[in-house]
Amino acid sequence: MKDYKRILVTAALPYANGPVHIGHLAGCYLPADIYVRYQRAQQRDIQFVGGSDEHGVPITIRAMKEGVTPQQIVDKYHTIIKQSFADMGISFDIYSRTSNPVHHQTSADFFRNLYDKGLFEEKETEQYFDEKANVFLADRYITGTCPVCGNPNAYGDQCEKCGSSLSPEQLINPHSTLSDAVPVKRKTKHWYFPLQNYESWLKQWVLEEHKDWKNNVYGQCKSWLDNGLQSRAMTRDSNWGVKVPLPDAEGKVLYVWFDAPIGYISATKELTDKWADYWCREDTKLVHFIGKDNIVFHCIIFPAMLKAHGDFVLPDNVPANEFLNIEGEKVSTSRNWAVWVHEYVKDFPGCEDVLRYVLCANAPETKDNDFTWKDFQDRNNSELVAIFGNFVNRAFVLMHKLCGGKVPPLHSEIIDEKDRQLMEDIAAAKANVTRNIEEYRFREALFEVIDLARKGNKYMQEKEPWIKAKQVSEGGTAGELAQKEIDNCLHLSLQLTANLAILINPFLPSTAKKMLHMMKVVDKMLDWENAGSLKLLSVGYSLRAPELLFRKIEDAEITAQVDKLRSNTIKPGTAKEKKPEIAVVSPLKPEIVYDDFAKLDLRVATITAAAKVEKADKLLKLEVDLGFEKRTIVSGIAMHFKPEDIVGKQVVVVANLAPRKMRGIESNGMILMAEDSSGKLHFINPEDMIEPGAGVS
Ligand code: 2FM
Ligand code: ZN
Repeated sequence: MKDYKRILVTAALPYANGPVHIGHLAGCYLPADIYVRYQRAQQRDIQFVGGSDEHGVPITIRAMKEGVTPQQIVDKYHTIIKQSFADMGISFDIYSRTSNPVHHQTSADFFRNLYDKGLFEEKETEQYFDEKANVFLADRYITGTCPVCGNPNAYGDQCEKCGSSLSPEQLINPHSTLSDAVPVKRKTKHWYFPLQNYESWLKQWVLEEHKDWKNNVYGQCKSWLDNGLQSRAMTRDSNWGVKVPLPDAEGKVLYVWFDAPIGYISATKELTDKWADYWCREDTKLVHFIGKDNIVFHCIIFPAMLKAHGDFVLPDNVPANEFLNIEGEKVSTSRNWAVWVHEYVKDFPGCEDVLRYVLCANAPETKDNDFTWKDFQDRNNSELVAIFGNFVNRAFVLMHKLCGGKVPPLHSEIIDEKDRQLMEDIAAAKANVTRNIEEYRFREALFEVIDLARKGNKYMQEKEPWIKAKQVSEGGTAGELAQKEIDNCLHLSLQLTANLAILINPFLPSTAKKMLHMMKVVDKMLDWENAGSLKLLSVGYSLRAPELLFRKIEDAEITAQVDKLRSNTIKPGTAKEKKPEIAVVSPLKPEIVYDDFAKLDLRVATITAAAKVEKADKLLKLEVDLGFEKRTIVSGIAMHFKPEDIVGKQVVVVANLAPRKMRGIESNGMILMAEDSSGKLHFINPEDMIEPGAGVS
């Protein structure tokens, strides 16, 4: 084992094309957070970086589906995702985003470094092109009929109905999702990274030097390496992403899987001036937490890029979890078969630790696992409430009842076998939890903590301080002894409670906080070195009344969740993908000066005619009267208003916007609307009808 001086933990950057679901949490964010919280309690020098992955095809597709720009999409989902992580206590030191300028610069510099060393191969190949939209098409942009199951909406890389992997050539009636045009092949140049040149180094580094990696990770790497590596294009034809920093690369951006992992470096740069200590010194332990679909990128491609660059450390470990299914079925965001984190937080306020508990206790660490609402309820009611919460509550209630609300003394002369056993159990639990967390076995670590609480309950049950209390009331020597036995039982039970707070803290941080409050002790008590101590609470110290750590979860709450999951599911190919119903305030745009604003010519106009645009669900063709002239404006409001309902209404128009063709119709200006948090549009118009053409300023 290397003697590391500092630790850098990364968690995969989620695509900012939708909210996060509990599968994301279980896959990598929760294990990463547990690990980080534990390392912080160990007082180690550690940073935890994350952020949104804001480039790539999924973002552009989502933008297209919602009829907005990719920037609007990433602004919206970045905000939602960041909030979901904060709500669930995922304690990033920084949660950044790959659209930040520092990231564009860092990844462009990285590319340039490899380019200048002559490490890329330049190749011209034929790729699909949309002649109407004038862009190259990623496979995902091509749809057609699946040759396997006949689904008319299969993608060029996959059919989501039958799950077949496809190539665009296999689709029947292929067409571009951008314009409906039939794609044609066209030559394009790209920069390829010859992974095969790193194959023998990777075989040595992964297969020989990292036999300690988890079986699922090691196994996937071995299979990739055994099959042989090939050059991979590291650039794409697109306008969305990090521009290729070369003079002859107009319309080319870095492949999203080239720039995204560099996002870990950019985020660290944003976080601290000492970023190079974390990235460039051999005594840094770099750990990437990911889901299993990211293994090849983090264990093969990114390390090869880092090796080629030469300035950066390589990961010490890449703990990847498998997938979490929901109620026996694979998560599908397009079918809305998922439990969304932002909805859970709303439906179960104050129960964030319960979800953390269930997702860790049932984590897909070695194989895919299943989340069911019934299991969620059972684990809450029969483990958190009945074991952990019950023990802590009993210790506090009995201490108030039988020891005057103060930590009773420990009478060493009457310590018995059961007391000694409990003391040993506390020491052993610390060792086991520590070892399991260090080795990325979080389920087992959590089990050890609950098991210790279980032992606490058993100890209390065997010691029966409530029975002893009767003897105390009878007085005499027997009464005195009975009080001493009560003292010892509750003294040890309270020291155990303090230990449980330390050990549960990485897993259930809000619960640990509540326990600190009840014990009237400061955060410092949670330092890991304090675990195992039996002197955490001083004799005679008065403690608060117990708080409810966990509440029972009722059958009706579970039925409601199962019903919601089933009733919100979208059957493949039958309905449009559901937009999440989330109220978000989009972030403010960068500041402008008055002159910027003054360039806009805003006028009041009256709508004189409105009609749907053929084959465009979202568009209305409006005729508007500006007083001094009449114009045609195409506007994306068809999902919100019926044409007949808006004729005669007044609107505010950006009158000096350059004309733009939409679906073959020239649009001369833009109408302004307000969008509320549910996405509904509202007219912005003068209170009373006024003459068209009036200026707005
Ligand atoms: O699979 C995903 O969601 C990717 N956006 C993960 C990227 S991880 C890293 F490389 F940034
Ligand atoms: Zn199919």
